[in-house]
Amino acid sequence: MTTTSEFTRTLTRALDLDSRLEDDPGALREFPLMPYGEAVDMGQAADGTPLIDPRLFDGPEFFRNPYPYYRIMRDHYPVYHDKLHNCYYVTRYDDITECYFDDEGFNTIPKGSSSGVLGNTQLELSGIEHRRRRNLYGQHLVGQSLKLRVPAIERLAREMIENWDDQAREGVSWIEDRDGVRTIEIGKAFANDFPISVVCDILGFPKDARGKFFYWYKSMMSGLGGSAAQKQGLEARQDLEDYIEGIVEARRKEPTYLYDEEGNPVGKDIISKLCESQIDGDYLSTEEITSNIALIVGGGGETTRGAILNMLYLLLQHPEQFDAVMADASLWDAAFHETLRHSTPIGGQPRHNTYDIEMHGVKIPAGSLVHMVDFSANHDERIFSEPETFDIFRPDLYKGKLLRSGYRKEGRCSHMAFGVGPHLCPGAWISHQEATIGCRILSEHMKNPRINVERMPKDIDGESLRPMGLVSVDALWIDYDIEDRP
Ligand code: HEM
Repeated sequence: MTTTSEFTRTLTRALDLDSRLEDDPGALREFPLMPYGEAVDMGQAADGTPLIDPRLFDGPEFFRNPYPYYRIMRDHYPVYHDKLHNCYYVTRYDDITECYFDDEGFNTIPKGSSSGVLGNTQLELSGIEHRRRRNLYGQHLVGQSLKLRVPAIERLAREMIENWDDQAREGVSWIEDRDGVRTIEIGKAFANDFPISVVCDILGFPKDARGKFFYWYKSMMSGLGGSAAQKQGLEARQDLEDYIEGIVEARRKEPTYLYDEEGNPVGKDIISKLCESQIDGDYLSTEEITSNIALIVGGGGETTRGAILNMLYLLLQHPEQFDAVMADASLWDAAFHETLRHSTPIGGQPRHNTYDIEMHGVKIPAGSLVHMVDFSANHDERIFSEPETFDIFRPDLYKGKLLRSGYRKEGRCSHMAFGVGPHLCPGAWISHQEATIGCRILSEHMKNPRINVERMPKDIDGESLRPMGLVSVDALWIDYDIEDRP
């Protein structure tokens, strides 16, 4: 166990280091890892305001323990100018929502990093161009269309779980049965692939293309990181485009359908629908269809995976809340929303301001990079009381049907994980279904599930579970009881 005095010593060492670096402010500085929820003391201004050293944002302490620093920013620098990285951070809930709704004052052009690999997608469009693109497939992921997809989501979840026994017999590395207990890593066994299978299904990809689809998805996602991986991402996109070209030609002549459990057609798949869509009288080009598909794939995989793993991780750490959800399945909705408030898989979105503006006394020249920190909005104590506490019953979070038009209803605010305003995630409703149905079916299948603490990464005390910080759970090891097999 690390003691407070050890922390103080580490802190002092860090401060010594800081004074040695005084002549070289750009040099890396090591920040000590603090007890969770406490911030490193980075000095004070003459009036006692705590200072923020932007080198912190690149270090492990911030990735692991960001919330106390966001609190300092919300309280003292609601718009923080980071001169080291040449950008601005907006951290209060109300300010962020205002910027998100102002699509002309804060546009999304260019995000740069995604367009290389995903192509020309709506994520980087603003104004009227964005509105035209957005409706092309968004309508297929909501309302009645979404209801029709639910049986397929349930079927895919059950199919994955049914494979576990065979996988255990084959001796895969993520499942182990011993003395009536199964130890399983839920990421590899379920959450990594489940959202991609769902997307593949609703897009209407042939089943035998699923293996390739996973390869494209993984390569494109890692390609967003740049360098060599970007090259692989671009190649994967080209591959996907070549493949889709054939499908698009075939579907233009003969659309294909999704089917319910009884085998009745319940509507065309999304690729078939995109083939029929027109903008200003022109059919979408293959390039446009590919980019839309790449965005749906890229937008819906990692995010929903993170939501599933984070939700189970948080619920199992709060067994009384897990038991409540098991006793009343309607609480899965609340669990999903509170998970996305407490630990969203996406921390925020970049924007560029179109005009010179001033917010909270900070002048932001036109064209600056302004980060909307959704992580911080979700933990803004002006909106959510005791924001660090995970509580699916919290009365101050709106947990009803997400509305495109607003984020405040019945006097409560929704979480910011799906953004708000014109770019509000069009996959919000389907990922909600995927995560709640997936977690419900998983939890009903596993008898007496509990986190296998032994196998999980530990925090700095070497004992407690590592907090999520800025990232989703990487791997979630669970034990559950099974019948002994001969
Ligand atoms: C828990 C899961 C998810 C989270 C947390 C999430 C989060 C987000 C956020 C924050 C944005 C807004 C980007 C911005 O404001 O610039 C967004 C956009 C988007 N998301 Fe999601 N997403 C999730 C699941 C999905 C799924 C399942 C799909 C597709 C099936 C999807 C497709 C998209 C697309 C296409 C956009 C671009 C929308 C636009 O720019 O108009 N997302 N998502």
